[in-house]
Amino acid sequence: MKKQIESAENSAHSNKLLQRKIAVITGATRGIGLEIAKTFGLNGADIIGISRNQNRYDSSRAFFDEHEIIFSYFQGDVTDPDRLREIALEIKRIYQRVNILVNNAGSASIRSGIKTMTVGEWKQVIDINLNSMFYVTSCMLPLLLNKPTYESASVINISSIAARIGTRKVAYTAAKAGVLGFTKGLAGSLAEDNIRVNAILPGAVSTDLTSGWSKSQRMDIEGKIPLGSIAEAAEIADAALFLALPLSRYITGQSLDVNGGWIMP
Ligand SMILES: NC(=O)c1ccc[n+]([C@@H]2O[C@H](COP(=O)([O-])OP(=O)(O)OC[C@H]3O[C@@H](n4cnc5c(N)ncnc54)[C@H](OP(=O)(O)O)[C@@H]3O)[C@@H](O)[C@H]2O)c1
Repeated sequence: MKKQIESAENSAHSNKLLQRKIAVITGATRGIGLEIAKTFGLNGADIIGISRNQNRYDSSRAFFDEHEIIFSYFQGDVTDPDRLREIALEIKRIYQRVNILVNNAGSASIRSGIKTMTVGEWKQVIDINLNSMFYVTSCMLPLLLNKPTYESASVINISSIAARIGTRKVAYTAAKAGVLGFTKGLAGSLAEDNIRVNAILPGAVSTDLTSGWSKSQRMDIEGKIPLGSIAEAAEIADAALFLALPLSRYITGQSLDVNGGWIMP
């Protein structure tokens, strides 16, 4: 019954599939997070973006204004639970609820090779790529639970192909594999509340995170990808849109590999 009500709601707004949905996206100011914000916004969602540097938000603001997308920006670090609690309170005051949470913020830039990594670096990488997902989700959970009970909510965690293939960035690989375990545990725990939880594992994507790759590194990677190219961030955003929509209403606890066929687990 609840699924029928939801699909009826969406067909009534078929050109705006996320009409009346509130989406929290961490790292929504650059790369994959920014494209998810644009894609969800163009589909009718109100966006709540969290990142550390407001300047980055300011430079992408014109897009949201031009398309009349409501974007509420909160400056904050996803490794700072106190700040996240303040943000959640503010979201509760303004919106009362959240329908979609995308745990996207992460970083592969900290040194995390086993031969040189310090304890501090290990903790830093795990904190930004794994612990942050717990901090953000636990702060947003009361808001996700605040939706009408017949509506489903969706949590989307951005992992990485690194979780499948193993890379020399040992801490990053461990954190991104941990994201898959976190996703399954959360999916099992929240299914009774009509909250679905899934992970996306991007392969190589053209963003700031990969902008340091040399031409030969890029060619080497593209040679391994059956679909022949490194992904655009928008291609990851389309997968996130699918997981946010009732189209995926029977999918939870899954890991969606979006990598051009680079690996086929
Ligand atoms: N690009 C790839 O090839 C690739 C492949 C697999 C997985 N991924 C994963 O996809 C996600 C997005 O990657 P991306 O390539 O789009 O990265 P990106 O271009 O570096 O963007 C990262 C975003 O996260 C924010 N951010 C970083 N650290 C943060 C923190 N501590 N607190 C709050 N916000 C923070 C950044 O904003 P501020 O710096 O202003 O805070 C930015 O908006 C990451 O989880 C990454 O591991 C990427």
